Amino acid sequence: MIKILAIYGSPRRKGNTSLLLKKAVQGAIEEGAEVEEIILRDLKMSPCLEIYGCKETGRCVIQDDFQQVYDKLLSCHGLMLASPIFFYTVSAHTKILMDRCQSLWAKKYWLEKAPIEKRKATRKGLFISVGATKGKRLFEGTLLSIRYFFEILDMELWRSLLYRSLDLERDILGHPEYLLEAYEAGKELIHAIKNME
Ligand SMILES: Cc1cc2nc3c(=O)[nH]c(=O)nc-3n(C[C@H](O)[C@H](O)[C@H](O)COP(=O)(O)O)c2cc1C
Repeated sequence: MIKILAIYGSPRRKGNTSLLLKKAVQGAIEEGAEVEEIILRDLKMSPCLEIYGCKETGRCVIQDDFQQVYDKLLSCHGLMLASPIFFYTVSAHTKILMDRCQSLWAKKYWLEKAPIEKRKATRKGLFISVGATKGKRLFEGTLLSIRYFFEILDMELWRSLLYRSLDLERDILGHPEYLLEAYEAGKELIHAIKNME
């Protein structure tokens, strides 16, 4: 059974990215995947303290809700991550999660001594984001961060769904075509993962 981890990075429970991700989750479930959902705003997670306790074992030493997310991040076949654009990057909730995954960086490059030039993606991820403005470069910085983040997870950034000009909670409901696209992406992600095996 394909295991997918769906991470909601918005502080809004029923905001634009959450509704999009929910659709992608629905698509994945309909394709037979087992989907576990994590709402970051419900977790107690400290930011990275840069103490590098993870240098010894590859595991972050801060004992909080990140510990369960870490195990799930390692065991899933695919990831769906959704975050709104806040100041041209991801939400603080999402960024905290990303920074805590520096423990995986330490595991990979310090402990396992993986050669940097031989990175191989063994899993696939979908990234969903939304911003209020229209700028051409709205997602540029975020995509760079997300690419590096996914790489540390051995995850190919399989597809990004990026939507502009959505601001108020549920603005997305005025765009059923975006919701449909997210639903289809959820389905297609499962096919893409199956085809990897
Ligand atoms: C703290 C904060 C910072 C934001 N920064 C940006 C920004 O830099 N660019 C932009 O286009 N929208 C920005 N927005 C607007 C959100 O991206 C927009 O409202 C989005 O639809 C929220 O998605 P959500 O409903 O999934 O949380 C910001 C909103 C907040 C609350």
